[in-house]
Amino acid sequence: MQNQESLQWFMNARFGMFIHWGLYAIPARGEWVRNGEFISNEEYQKYFEEFNPTQYDPRQWAKIAKKAGMKYAVMTAKHHDGFCLFDSQLTDYKSTNTLCKRDLVAEYLEAFRAEGLKVGLYYSLIDWHHPAYPAYGDRHHPMRNNPDYAQRDPFENYIAYMHGQVEELCTRYGQLDLLWFDFSYDDMTGEKWQATKLVNMVRSHQKNILIDNRLEAGKSSLLSGKPNIYSGDFVSPEQIIPPEGIKDVNGNPVPWEACITLNDHWGYCSSDFNYKSSEMVVRKLIECVSKGGNLLLNVGPDAKGVIPRESVEILAQVGDWMEQNGESIVGCGYAGLDKPEWGRYTRNGNCIYAHVIDQPIGYLSLPGIPAEKVKSIRLLRDGSELHIIRDWITESYPDLTFTSIAPLCKYDKTATVVKIVLKD
Ligand code: GLC
Repeated sequence: MQNQESLQWFMNARFGMFIHWGLYAIPARGEWVRNGEFISNEEYQKYFEEFNPTQYDPRQWAKIAKKAGMKYAVMTAKHHDGFCLFDSQLTDYKSTNTLCKRDLVAEYLEAFRAEGLKVGLYYSLIDWHHPAYPAYGDRHHPMRNNPDYAQRDPFENYIAYMHGQVEELCTRYGQLDLLWFDFSYDDMTGEKWQATKLVNMVRSHQKNILIDNRLEAGKSSLLSGKPNIYSGDFVSPEQIIPPEGIKDVNGNPVPWEACITLNDHWGYCSSDFNYKSSEMVVRKLIECVSKGGNLLLNVGPDAKGVIPRESVEILAQVGDWMEQNGESIVGCGYAGLDKPEWGRYTRNGNCIYAHVIDQPIGYLSLPGIPAEKVKSIRLLRDGSELHIIRDWITESYPDLTFTSIAPLCKYDKTATVVKIVLKD
């Protein structure tokens, strides 16, 4: 059952920060390092003993997110490696038992709330550290090929642990805006997690919380028109922007959030410099909003607790664009018009925002917007007036509305936004 009320803030927000952080920042080869290199608990233990992010300053992170124009954040409370960034009473494998001795989750929540951002936590259903989580023969476990790991504690023990930890997160840290479970696969899905019970427990403690759709594997039941209790509130496409947005079988739009990395890793990877440019990020954000979705953009802080400089720079540039043009993103969605050839439309009520990415020769056509419906046209970044053009060039296209940006003002090489206010 979706939480319709909370979906309002979520669908207005449009842009959030994903934070993947944990012990894996030390090997610095991404958060799947244990899987890829078949690293046992014993071998991985050295990172636990060493972990001491002395430069962790979540207030700084929150400022970076806010300046970028982000409205919410989601941080890993526990990733697949099982290491808890919070002071769980159910395990010793937690940040408060490392050299840093800090509850990293508590500090994150406080800092991001203080900046007025909505806060979410990521919690891994998968756990490569817990003795009751299937190992030998599992699809992903680091010990999946090791028959010594065939005998495990009963799986119910893991379920009790996992439910217990989720309950700790839902009862000890104040209001959480979002819970991001990750992930289901094969028969590890739905009721195998005792998902109905889990979701009911979460919602009993946190009335307003939003939940992602990863308690289910494969196609989300949100698309079936008959969502079940643990279908969550929104769909979470990963490393893809859905070609036509997301609709259910009845053609109704379904809330979604594309999670996307800034380089090619979620967790810190010291050799990965394949960062997306700020232009690309802004354009992909526009694309998400124009299709009715959100962008959850990832950063992977390093072992000291610092967000990589490259990420900080890109986010600052995105923030420059958002400062002038954020009105066309936040609170906006699908415009109900076909995609124009020069870029994309977004819409908020009777305001349509034309994002011009491919600068036209001469005038800018506004397909789907009849001239008689237009109240005003303004350049969004400075509010300056633009006009409807009718002259010998446009007269061959009587059904199209044209305006002119150049030569009145400069095109923004990322995206120039024109705000068209329609008459009531
Ligand atoms: C995946 C990965 C994971 C990452 C997540 C983010 O499912 O397992 O490492 O946290 O996607 O969407």
